[in-house]
Amino acid sequence: MDRILVLDFGGQYNQLIARRVRAEHVYAEIRPYSGLTAETIRKSGYRGIIFTGGPNSVYEPSSPHVDPSVLGLGIPVLGICYGHQLIAYTAGGTVGPAEGGSEYGRTVLYSEGGALFDGVPGESIVWMSHTDTVTELPAGFRSAARTDKCVCAAMEDEERKLYGVQFHPEVTHTEYGRQILRNFIFGVCGCSPDWKMDDFISASVERYRKELSGKKVLLALSGGVDSSVTAVLLHKAVGNALSCVFVDHGLLRKNEGDMVERHLGEKLGLNITRVRAEDRFLARLKGVTQPEQKRKIIGEEFIRVFEDEADRLGSPEILAQGTIYPDVIESGRGDSAVIKSHHTVGGLPDTMTFEKVVEPLRELFKDEVREVGEKLGIPRELVWRQPFPGPGLAVRIIGEVTKEKLDMLREADAVFREETDAAGAGPDQYFAVLTDTRSVGVMGDDRTYGYTLALRAVSTDDFMTAEWTRLPYGVLEKASSRITNEVKGITRVVYDITSKPPATVEWE
Ligand code: XMP
Repeated sequence: MDRILVLDFGGQYNQLIARRVRAEHVYAEIRPYSGLTAETIRKSGYRGIIFTGGPNSVYEPSSPHVDPSVLGLGIPVLGICYGHQLIAYTAGGTVGPAEGGSEYGRTVLYSEGGALFDGVPGESIVWMSHTDTVTELPAGFRSAARTDKCVCAAMEDEERKLYGVQFHPEVTHTEYGRQILRNFIFGVCGCSPDWKMDDFISASVERYRKELSGKKVLLALSGGVDSSVTAVLLHKAVGNALSCVFVDHGLLRKNEGDMVERHLGEKLGLNITRVRAEDRFLARLKGVTQPEQKRKIIGEEFIRVFEDEADRLGSPEILAQGTIYPDVIESGRGDSAVIKSHHTVGGLPDTMTFEKVVEPLRELFKDEVREVGEKLGIPRELVWRQPFPGPGLAVRIIGEVTKEKLDMLREADAVFREETDAAGAGPDQYFAVLTDTRSVGVMGDDRTYGYTLALRAVSTDDFMTAEWTRLPYGVLEKASSRITNEVKGITRVVYDITSKPPATVEWE
C-alpha cells in the first residue's frame, strides 16, 4: 500500500491535507516535524512527503526545521506555504517578508506549467495566507507560478522531485487544489489509488492483535461514535480481553444507556460493564449551580468510578481511548483559549498507571471514523449519533441538577428530537435545554407556574462556528404543543435563534 507522509509544522489547515490525500484513496500519515530523521523516513518506505504550513518564519533560529538530507532521499517532496519556504531555505534559497506585502484570501494565480499544474489553466483562483515569501530560488529550482504580489508562488526542481506552493491546495477555495494534489500524489509520486477504509480496519486489527496479545485492555465507553468505533475495532483484535466500562452517570438522554448496551453489548458482543452511578453523581451535584463547577465535579466523579472499575477488573495494563485527529490538534495547540473545559478520560490520576495507551483512531477525521463504524457493522443510530457532551444533560439544565429536572428534560428532549427527525429537517445538533425560569401559564381553568424549556438546533460543519437552524414552524409548533401537553412541569417553550459566535452551542 502506497503511503504519503504529512510532516506537520503547525499550520491551521494541516488536518485537511491528510484528509484530501486519503480522499484520493492513498493513505496519508501525519507526523510532527520533530523527532523524525531522514533515515527513519527512508526506511518507512513513503512514496512522497508533504511539508505542511505553519505559523513561523523559517529564518528565525527557533523555527521548526527539517533534517536537510530529507530533500536528498529521492522521495518526492511537496511543500505547502511554510513548507514551500522551508524547502527553499533548506535548499539554499532565501526567504523574507514579502515585498509586495502579505497576501490573504482568494488570489489569482498565473501558472507557468510543470508537473503540479497539469490540467490546471494558466489563470486560476488560489487561497493565500502568508507574510513571508521565497525571494531567491535555490539552485536547481524554477518558478512555476506567480501572483500579482508574489513572484514565486510555486517552484519545482523536476530532477530531485522537489515542489513547493505558497498557496493552500488543500482548502476548497483553491479552485484546482484537488488537481494539484492529485498531480503530486499520482503524477509525481506514482501512488496507486488502492487504499480503502477496509485496509485501515484490517491493518489495525492485525497490529493490535500482535501488539496487545496477552494483555487486558480497558476502555471508557461513552456510547458516542468515537469510543464505540474504537471499542468494536479493538474487540475484533483482542476479543474479550477488552473490557468496556460504560459509566452511566444518570445524565444521559432518554433510553440512551439501554441503546448502547443493546447495540454494542447484545448485538456486537462487546464485553460491557454498565456502572449505574446516578446516585453518586447526583449527590455530588446537589446544590451546585455554576457550569464550570458542574463539569469539574462530573469529570472527577467519572474518573473515580472508572478507577473503581479498573480495580475490580484487575487493573488492565492497557488503556484504549477514542481520540480522533481533531482532538489531537486541539490538545496540541495549547494557545487557544479554553472556552469550556471539555470532559474526556484525560486527567486520570497519576496513581492509575498503564503500560500503554492505545488510540487506534488518532489519525482519522470524524467522517472517516463514521465510515469505519459503518464498515464494522455498528448500527446507523450510533454511527450517525449527534454529538453529546460528556457532562450530559447536566449542562443542559440551568442551575441545580435534580432527578426531577432530569426526567422532565429527558422527556421533552425526546419529543423534540422525534419531531425534528420525523420532519427530516436535518440540523447537525438539536436538543432541549431546561432553563431555570418559571413563568405563569393557564391550563383549563387553572393557573400554572412551570418551567420554560428552550429548543436549540444548529447547522454547522465543525462545531467551531454554527448557525441556528431555520426549522419549519410546523415542527416547532408540534414539538411545543406535545411538550406542554406531555411533560408535566413545562408550561412554556422558546426557540433559541442565536448562532455561534456569539453564543456557544450548549447553554452552559
Ligand atoms: P459549544 O457549546 O462549545 O459546543 O459551542 C461545541 C460542541 O461541543 C460539544 N460540547 C462538549 N462535548 N464535553 C464534550 O464531550 C463537553 O464538555 C462539551 N461541551 C460542549 C457540544 O455538544 C457541541 O457539539
